[in-house]
Amino acid sequence: MKVPYFRIKLREEEKKYFLRVLERGFLSFGKECLNFEENIEKMTGYKAVFVSSATAGLHIVYKALEIGKYEEVLVPSFTFTATIEPLLHLGAIPVFVDVISEKYPVIDIRDAERKISKRTKAMVFMHYGGFIVDMKPYLEFCKENNIYLIEDAAHAFPAKRDGKFAGTFGIAGVYSFYGNKNLHLGEGGIVLTNEESLYKKIKLLRNHGIEVLPFEKKELESEYDIKFPGFNYRPTEMQGALANLLFKRIDEIQNKRREIYLKIRKEVENKFIFPYETNMPSSYHINPIFTKNEKERIDLIRYLKEKGIQISHHYPPVHLFSYIKERYGRLKLEVTEDLSKREITLPLYPDMENEEVEYLIESLRDF
Ligand SMILES: Cc1ncc(COP(=O)(O)O)c(C=O)c1O
Repeated sequence: MKVPYFRIKLREEEKKYFLRVLERGFLSFGKECLNFEENIEKMTGYKAVFVSSATAGLHIVYKALEIGKYEEVLVPSFTFTATIEPLLHLGAIPVFVDVISEKYPVIDIRDAERKISKRTKAMVFMHYGGFIVDMKPYLEFCKENNIYLIEDAAHAFPAKRDGKFAGTFGIAGVYSFYGNKNLHLGEGGIVLTNEESLYKKIKLLRNHGIEVLPFEKKELESEYDIKFPGFNYRPTEMQGALANLLFKRIDEIQNKRREIYLKIRKEVENKFIFPYETNMPSSYHINPIFTKNEKERIDLIRYLKEKGIQISHHYPPVHLFSYIKERYGRLKLEVTEDLSKREITLPLYPDMENEEVEYLIESLRDF
């Protein structure tokens, strides 16, 4: 048997609707995209800007907050490079902060306290795995130090804690809709904020600094001004259409993810270490486990490969990539480096068949 890391299955009626959208003859940002923004706004109560990817979203959030040359931003290293790379394009300095522990693999305030300086402008909190920890200490830390809290909520759509969605705790938050995410559009993202001026700026930055989107122009030659240079980070109508379709069954998708995650966890929790408490609010985007040591991880990878089970790794530490080492030398983050050497991400997706789940559990038990 083979169990892929993820698999996407669109419903027949979704494929049909998608074709109808293609036949409308307009494929750039249009009504489907606007409709999706409204869906997210109604759901979260926050202003939403639909962008071409979470990386693009983070880039324009950092830019709109005027994070610039030599300004420092506290970031985790136990994340994807996308949290960090836009900062370098703006000339800002990522300051890598360790994570707490295998139980809470998220940015550690105690380490942030050691690393904050007069030049620090923001902290980026990444909701590892899609789980939402208590955000109060992070909000307090950022408030006390007068810095922005930005959420990389790439994993965390549509998780909420105490009625509040991931991505709505800080000044701005970003979801990813990359191919294996909970709402899988191939590529795509959403920026959330409730700061009106920031919202306006982010919208402009998405569209070259131009106020009117191409489809909103009454006449093709209509005149416009540009007050600052932006980007083309617009998504397409295909992404918008797919987003609206999947949005309709997001509860079903989430229930299935949760059910599969909890089942796997319950069956093998005595053998492997799972982060967070079982009942912690989550989007259940990925299923990360930690082995006891590095050797066990290597053995488990080899074993699962033989069993035909595909896995992933979240994450190789960003501070150990060449582009960071060349700039800042060999930094040391003890917990991040240890966790990275012990992490394996198991398959988890709503269309996982029962037999696949059972096979995965049995294989893990027999290891
Ligand atoms: C934590 C994190 N941040 C940002 C991103 C970037 O998302 P995107 O591929 O939508 O640009 C990812 C992508 O997987 C991610 O895992």
